[in-house]
Amino acid sequence: MLRFEVLSASPETPWTIAANLSYDDVIDRLERINQTFGLDIATIHDEALYSKSYQPKVQEEVVIFGGNAMLENAIQKADDRNLEAARQIVQQAKVYLDAFFQLHPASEALKKLYQNLLDYDAKLAQMKDMSQTEYLVAQKMSKFSSYSARRKNDGQRLKPDFLTFLRNSCFYLPKKLNMQGKVAIITGASSGIGRALAFRLGQKGAKLVITGRKPAPLEETRAELETNGIEVLALIADSSQEADNARLVEATLQHFGRIDLLICNAGISMRALVEDLDLDVIRQVMDINFYGAVYAVKYALPHLLASQGTIVGISSIAGFRGLPARSGYSASKFAMHGFLEALRTELLKKKVHVLIACPGFTQSNIRRVALTKDGQAQGETPRDETAMMSAEAVAVSIVRAMEKKRRYLVLTRQGKLTVFLNKWWPALMDKLVYNALAREVNSPLS
Ligand SMILES: NC(=O)c1ccc[n+]([C@@H]2O[C@H](COP(=O)([O-])OP(=O)(O)OC[C@H]3O[C@@H](n4cnc5c(N)ncnc54)[C@H](OP(=O)(O)O)[C@@H]3O)[C@@H](O)[C@H]2O)c1
Repeated sequence: MLRFEVLSASPETPWTIAANLSYDDVIDRLERINQTFGLDIATIHDEALYSKSYQPKVQEEVVIFGGNAMLENAIQKADDRNLEAARQIVQQAKVYLDAFFQLHPASEALKKLYQNLLDYDAKLAQMKDMSQTEYLVAQKMSKFSSYSARRKNDGQRLKPDFLTFLRNSCFYLPKKLNMQGKVAIITGASSGIGRALAFRLGQKGAKLVITGRKPAPLEETRAELETNGIEVLALIADSSQEADNARLVEATLQHFGRIDLLICNAGISMRALVEDLDLDVIRQVMDINFYGAVYAVKYALPHLLASQGTIVGISSIAGFRGLPARSGYSASKFAMHGFLEALRTELLKKKVHVLIACPGFTQSNIRRVALTKDGQAQGETPRDETAMMSAEAVAVSIVRAMEKKRRYLVLTRQGKLTVFLNKWWPALMDKLVYNALAREVNSPLS
């Protein structure tokens, strides 16, 4: 099966808003397209694929829509003066079409699309980079009525739209982070969100160091990443052990020579009432979720300062709102918030970006391995995993938030509502949260 990356399946993109689609709708449509046509596309960034009226009939049609969308996306990026991104998209599109040519060698429409792509690639190669400042000056010097900027280098005329003009003139936009060639450490990347993040960042050109405690799933993830052409080093390391974190940083430097991104993702959960639980349960959860992040940050920080890199803490909605029967888990995420918020402020003038990412309920292994009151793994998940956001979709949002250098990311409609209501109506939230968790299978609350 062929695999392609998720690009703009987001409820925030203009076309999903225009089509009144939620993120889940987008993912659902994509899954149906994949099932119908035997594809494994994580997403094609094309509104046509997701617009309510679009009903693809054959696989080739899906491919052509995808290819056209990539081309349009590249043109848009070039219009926005992001030539590097435009070039990357064209390269991706070539890989995408090359793969599908093997399935539809005689398709005239595909050949035409491929030719368009080559033509545009040649055009991009001629265009020389103009810095954002040069571009702004050129824009401002040009008359608004005939709004255009004549290129010095190749004589091409640019016609940015009114919104681009407003955005460039009125707002300071921090430069989007480009993942190409970045070295990323992801702790706990052999399953769930960490694993999905590894694929997402790898697809964007990052080099990876991934960790986990169990050798088999870690090795499986490493091999799959490598098969997908992603450069990766896998290390068995326990986040809760300070020495393992020191070794992780050292091994990354030895192998890749630098660290640009640190994602503190390794985590476990628990489920028991405080009155019943063995205190070791809370200690274990704090050691992995909180101290694991502290150790990794401490050892990686000098190198992140050198690279002006990014630190991401994978927290949770439970970091904003304590959950009954998840006291240790909630405490570890609240602690993580305090630590990372303080760190972000310490780093305010040092150009290291800190993102606190808070997924809502996400399909993963976390509930199966969650600790019960005596520290045993729970075994079964007490919730309907199929109703949750997929780890892949979560990874897409996290990487986008990293690229945009956001401070917080709160995911899922339910998660956003929980954070909002908890701030303004905490007494109501006590009841709602109690009831929601009491409804879980075998809940200690019921
Ligand atoms: N799934 C959700 O609903 C959800 C929601 C909000 C936030 N989160 C957060 O997302 C993060 C990832 O969770 P997930 O849902 O993807 O869970 P998961 O599927 O259970 O994956 C957890 C990963 O962390 C690794 N890990 C656990 N303990 C570790 C340790 N001591 N040292 C190193 N690696 C360790 C696991 O591998 P080994 O077991 O082999 O070590 C695994 O690779 C966690 O921080 C979690 O709190 C999850």
